[in-house]
Amino acid sequence: MIRLNAMPLDFEPRRKILPKLPSFVSKDGYREPEMSEFESAFLCGAIKQFRPKKILEVGVAGGATTAIILQALEDIGEPYEMHSVDVAEKFYRDKTKPSGFMATLAKEKVFGNLRGTHEFHLGKYLPQVIDNIGGDIDFVILDTVHSLPGEVLDFIAMLPYLKDGAIVVLHDVALNQYGTNPNGNATTVLFSAVTANKFLNLVSGDVNSKFQYPNIAAFQINEHTAQNIENVFLTLILRWSYLPSQGEMNLYFVHYRKHYPKELCAIYAEAIKMNLYNLVIASYV
Ligand SMILES: C[S@@+](CC[C@H](N)C(=O)[O-])C[C@H]1O[C@@H](n2cnc3c(N)ncnc32)[C@H](O)[C@@H]1O
Repeated sequence: MIRLNAMPLDFEPRRKILPKLPSFVSKDGYREPEMSEFESAFLCGAIKQFRPKKILEVGVAGGATTAIILQALEDIGEPYEMHSVDVAEKFYRDKTKPSGFMATLAKEKVFGNLRGTHEFHLGKYLPQVIDNIGGDIDFVILDTVHSLPGEVLDFIAMLPYLKDGAIVVLHDVALNQYGTNPNGNATTVLFSAVTANKFLNLVSGDVNSKFQYPNIAAFQINEHTAQNIENVFLTLILRWSYLPSQGEMNLYFVHYRKHYPKELCAIYAEAIKMNLYNLVIASYV
């Protein structure tokens, strides 16, 4: 089922916290956070609506979105546990700073004692940290590579740790139309293939947005999500935009074998073989 314009928007957390932090603009003009006001409002609206207790963020960058999420959770005023995972220890747009530096500043200089806990897991892939984070996750923001296999690998990895009814917010669900990267379709593909209740708010009144179809969306998992997870595994058969390192592909393979039947792991193994052939070997034969 798809629910249009059903998510309340909450612009307040971003407007509260960002002016208290130094602004960051990279040499090539990217600002922190990498979300528009509308996208942050959709994310914070979902947080206010579902009042999560255990939050997982995958893809941190400079951490302005992390700070905005923390503000939204503080505004709710209840205890929470939040984990932020990024494979890069250093902020990928300015390697003189650690990933998440803006959230670290917010924690040290703005929030004081948090009502909940927040922990960074930097320099690691999700399968390397998810057992320590543990189950019962009820809210996810997934925003990493955007190109296949990207976010598809991580959603499959995290699903066994999500609570029934968990909300998964995906950024860049229309990046291949909005940006200059036609391969930016990993979250588009995931959003299409997953069985779940889906939330899309059409953009209106934003002069900076070219289209009404938003670049952020969410879904709520239910008992059918895990039953139909083969549809998400099957998206991995699409041609990938990049080949992860052998070590990375292996981490996910070992993790999937712990949680999924061998038929699904075999689809992932075939996807690796086909993409290895087409992205690497084919150019030598
Ligand atoms: C687009 S940025 C995230 C933007 C951020 N969510 C925001 O709103 O400002 C993508 C981040 O994902 C990280 N990343 C890329 N692949 C990853 C992976 N497999 N697991 C965890 N983080 C990853 C990158 O290092 C980068 O910091």
